[in-house]
Amino acid sequence: MDRVDKILQHETFRRHLAEIRKRETDRKFGKHDLSHLLDVARIGEILNLEGGLGLDRELVYAAALLHDIGRDVEYENGTEHDLAGAEIAPEILRDCGFDPQETEQITDAIRSHGDAGAAGEESLRGILYRADKASRPCFACEEDVRRECRWSDEKKNLKIRY
Ligand SMILES: [Fe+2]
Ligand SMILES: [Fe+2]
Repeated sequence: MDRVDKILQHETFRRHLAEIRKRETDRKFGKHDLSHLLDVARIGEILNLEGGLGLDRELVYAAALLHDIGRDVEYENGTEHDLAGAEIAPEILRDCGFDPQETEQITDAIRSHGDAGAAGEESLRGILYRADKASRPCFACEEDVRRECRWSDEKKNLKIRY
């Protein structure tokens, strides 16, 4: 996973992650920290294996690690973070050794990770969408916190699946 190791050390990746951490200090749930990104990566890889999609694990991890990288931009100026992330990701991916076709595939998944149209797809896009949603441990939330969440009860993960 050499290319994924490079993302984890990449200056732009680390800068955005640090800024997001600062912005989310008071957030009680649904943080966009490294632990969320790794949850999405690992669930994504389970879905990849379970579904027999045969995607390169590095693509799954790269998409997961970078999918929320535009969060600080959204906090800063209101640009949707999936779009902001799709702008930020290509430079990082290129520096870490992903070729133009892989970069496009990953960037496309980042851009559509909040798009319900991607939910049912057997593709990197579909996996990223489903892993992101499945990653949230709603079953561990306290009642009062759960009430503050804007996810509907149907959308919440009230039982563990992954
Ligand atoms: Fe997101
Ligand atoms: Fe996310």
